[in-house]
Amino acid sequence: MQLIFEKSRSGRGLSLLPPCDVAGYEIPGELRREQTPGLPALSETDISRHYSALAKMVHGVNDGFYPLGSCTMKYNPKVNEEMAALPGFTEIHPLQPLDTAQGCLEVLARAEAALCEITGMDAMSFQPAAGAHGEFTGILLIKAYHTARGEGATRNKIIVPDSAHGTNPASAAMAGYTVVSIPSAADGCVDLDALRQAVGADTAGLMLTNPNTVGVFDKNILAITEIVHQAGGLVYYDGANLNAVMGLVRPGDMGFDVIHLNLHKTFSTPHGGGGPGSGPCGCQAFLAPYLPKTQISRAADGSYCFSDPQQSIGRVRSFYGNFLVVVKALTYILSLGASGIREAAENAVLNANYLRKRLSAAYDIAYDGFCMHEFVVTLEKMKHETGVSAMDIAKALLDNGIHPPTMYFPLIVHEALMIEPTETESKDTLDEAAEVFLAIHRAALENAESLHQAPLYTPVRRLDETQAARHPLLKYEG
Ligand SMILES: Cc1ncc(COP(=O)(O)O)c(C=O)c1O
Repeated sequence: MQLIFEKSRSGRGLSLLPPCDVAGYEIPGELRREQTPGLPALSETDISRHYSALAKMVHGVNDGFYPLGSCTMKYNPKVNEEMAALPGFTEIHPLQPLDTAQGCLEVLARAEAALCEITGMDAMSFQPAAGAHGEFTGILLIKAYHTARGEGATRNKIIVPDSAHGTNPASAAMAGYTVVSIPSAADGCVDLDALRQAVGADTAGLMLTNPNTVGVFDKNILAITEIVHQAGGLVYYDGANLNAVMGLVRPGDMGFDVIHLNLHKTFSTPHGGGGPGSGPCGCQAFLAPYLPKTQISRAADGSYCFSDPQQSIGRVRSFYGNFLVVVKALTYILSLGASGIREAAENAVLNANYLRKRLSAAYDIAYDGFCMHEFVVTLEKMKHETGVSAMDIAKALLDNGIHPPTMYFPLIVHEALMIEPTETESKDTLDEAAEVFLAIHRAALENAESLHQAPLYTPVRRLDETQAARHPLLKYEG
């Protein structure tokens, strides 16, 4: 397919602008470009066809099954977009007088209250723009807490289980901490003995997601948070997997002190190229004084206003975060209601277990047994016996209209495929997907070579992933 620049024809274009009805303005010479910008010249038809063709080259949630583990690629109700497109939310400036922005402030306040209720936290900041950004913010809260108690220098270690998402150790390291990795037990849960040995007077905190990245809800969660608290550390909840437990169990009740959420996963905003994210950071009341500037509060007359937490870590982003994502999340929460939120989590778990059970007829499931919202398949034996890898299976799925699961993660499972079907898929879709997975498994045993060739029918065939990662060509070379 040609780039839009290659389709450009000099003199072609479209002009739909009405005649200018204000006085012209001569731009001073020193501010003018020396050359006209190299923008493509196309007709509206050309542009429309170009973008339609591009849209056909990708696979999104609206195209088909998208079981990308740890990413919760669920269907995002269109009503969320309609609400976020209301002029009252879009035609507003972050610096306009507060009495003209009360509705927007109310959205932030109501979203904070709802998400605190769902997570068992007392306060929340919407500034972080993504999950990893929320983690970084949360770790800064932990740091501010220890510093205020005179233990900032001595409590310099953050413990992270080896099953953690890569952003956890990265966030802790970015905040200046030494990361201590502890092994998982054979059942995928935190190894309690390893945790007991790791904690001490130098522990600032532990970062954990529950259910974890192998889809297992840690049965020892209360003991885990207790061990860290006893050692004087705080416990951070990576809420990217909240889709499995929202409305059922709350991180606050599990003993967590600070959390982040991925609104662009659990609370139904398109992500993965579909738009900006939001990773709000929530905390227990004793950490609220450290939250980023600026929080929403109520003035004496009941109106909404801003207030800066007394010992705030400062801003982590401009203004109030990705506000329209919060509008979408609140729309989602209000349209589902308490029972709907709970039902969504129950169905996410039901769907994952149904697919796990169907695939276990042929595939090896790592940590087999009841899972939460996702499960991990290991192709280690298959690779050893036939040479067919997790990558081969993933590429063959593409030829069947299914987006591959997350590959080679978590690192503790070899030849891993991490599958998260989400609650928004029907039993029909799950059955169709199961048949495809099983047919690919048969093909792997009968004709391994055919799978090394996949994908055959996608816009680009198999890429050299190492080259793509090490030497990405990111600029147009004409
Ligand atoms: C468990 C977990 N934690 C954190 C993150 C980071 O979220 P984000 O990609 O929005 O930075 C992810 C994202 O995939 C995740 O799965």
